[in-house]
Order: sequence, then C-alpha cells, then structure tokens
Amino acid sequence: MKNQRRNFIFNAGIATASLFLSKKLNKKRGFQYFHKSKGPIFLSTWDHGIEANKEALKTIDSGGSGLDAVEQGVRIIESDPENTSVGLGGMPDSTGKIALDACIMSSDGSCGAVCMLENIEHPISVARKVMEDTPHVLLAAEGAYDFAISKGFKKKNLNTSNSKKSYREWKKESKYKPIINVENHDTIGMLGMDDNGNIFGSCTTSGLAFKRRGRIGDSPIIGAGLFIDNEVGGAVATGLGESIIKIAGSAIIVELMRHGYSPIDACKEAVLRISKNEDIENIQVAFIALNKSGEYGAYSVHPGFNYALTENRKTSLIDSDHLRK
Ligand code: GLY
Repeated sequence: MKNQRRNFIFNAGIATASLFLSKKLNKKRGFQYFHKSKGPIFLSTWDHGIEANKEALKTIDSGGSGLDAVEQGVRIIESDPENTSVGLGGMPDSTGKIALDACIMSSDGSCGAVCMLENIEHPISVARKVMEDTPHVLLAAEGAYDFAISKGFKKKNLNTSNSKKSYREWKKESKYKPIINVENHDTIGMLGMDDNGNIFGSCTTSGLAFKRRGRIGDSPIIGAGLFIDNEVGGAVATGLGESIIKIAGSAIIVELMRHGYSPIDACKEAVLRISKNEDIENIQVAFIALNKSGEYGAYSVHPGFNYALTENRKTSLIDSDHLRK
C-alpha cells in the first residue's frame, strides 16, 4: 500500500513536470499564442486572392464559421469566367475538357477532396461534402461527378469562348509541356484563422493547362497542395503539382513549423528541397504558410508570385520572396 502511494506521488510528480516542460516548450515554439489581429486572418495565393479574402471576411461577418469562410472565399474565384486557372473557364486538358481538382481541410483534422471533376462549377463545395458526408477523403472523375449530382450540384458546361479559343490555339501544335512557367497564374489556395485561433484551408484549380487526360496535380492531394495541423499551422501550394507532390510540400512545411521554423523559413526550405532534385529553370512553385501565432510567410522559386493577406480587417497584396533573384 505504501509502495503504491509512493508510486502514485512519483508518477504525479513526473506528470506535473512533463506538463510544465511541454508548456514551456510550446511557449518557446509559440504554439499557444493566438493571433493579435483584430478579426480573422486570411492568406491566399495570387492577386485573385484579394477578392477571395474579402468574401471570406464577409462570410465570417455574417456569422459563418472559419470553414465556411475558406470555402466561400474560393467559390468566388471558381465562378469567375475571366479567371483561367480555376473553375468556370479554367484551362482545358489535352482533350479540351475542363477537369477540376480541389480539397478542403478543417481545424479538427478532417478533410475532403475531388479530382478530375467535370461539369461542376464548385469542386471546393463537393470536396466539403466528401469530408462531411462520406467516410472517404478523395473521390475521382465520374465517381466524384455522380456523388456531386446526388448531393444536388447542377451539371454545367464550364468551357467559355475564351477557354475554347485557348484550346484551339494550343491544338495547332499540341505541344505537351508539363511546366508551369513564371507568368502563369495557377490555383487558388487559401488559409484562414478564426477569432479563436482555429486554422482552416482550401485549394481549387483547373490544374496544368492542356494537361494529359487523367493527370492529377498537387491541389487535391492532402499534404501536397494543402495541409493543416491546428496545433501548429497550415500551408498551401501553387505551381507545378508534380514538384510539390514529390516533397509532400505542404505537410513538410507544417512539420518544419512544428520544429520551430518561421512560416517563411519553412516555405523557403520546401523550395530549396525542390531545387535540389529538379532543374527549376522552367518551373514555378510557391508556398504560403500561417502559424498558430498568426505569423505568415511565403516563398517561391521565381519572382512574380504574390499573395493576398487580410489582417486587422485590411486586405493587401504582398510580393513573395523567391529563390531565383
Ligand atoms: N498546382 C496545380 C497543378 O499542378 O495542377
């Protein structure tokens, strides 16, 4: 009995010390601090992120959750026929069809995705339905389409006169170039932090222009195109999907932040890893990241990448730092 009591006191002592140490370590790493922004924080890729962030803020202001905000924000871009890299009017594949990829991830670790989804304007909302209404993470092609229809999404032809024209132009030579060059805009990825410090993310794209039929990029792949760990932060990617998938880009960035890297240093390290394995002359890849303290950062291979930031209820466009000077 005496021994049991001694063991109990000893174990309780160890538990208290561990709690103290882990709190101290977390404090050092900055995990337990929530952001100081007045209002939520949103970060999204490219200049189309400005509109997306504004919509996300509006969603929160009208009582929506952080998850609603990152979904509604990117839906605006999916519906924009002038935007040639996402949703309606996106770039066709090698057969002239617009095949969309998207994923969404919540602060509780749940996630959903669709890939090669055709004739549905809002792949991000189908991805959310996959997350909420199925035991699965990723649905593809016809299976994703049938699922979307079963959930009440309407069939819509996503080709516009502009996307058809681009395809006709490309068809003249039909050169298959799996590169995303430095001028190309591609993909909207969004990270959001609500007033309680919970982090959410979304990502949606028509993918590499004129991609081989069936080719899937990073954007619907959890851990590549997007990753959230609510204890640490989140990251989202844009650019050539193959390069991002090979290093599990977004997951790596979150892990680096877990081990003390700042968001910008974590994004830079991911870009450096790509540059070690590949000839980066003709590929653009960029990452944005947000940590639990509300710090953010971005890094790209080439100049030209920018991202939209909403903080203290103000939205601005920030040029990313880059590897190639
Ligand atoms: N990042 C989009 C793609 O490679 O498809």
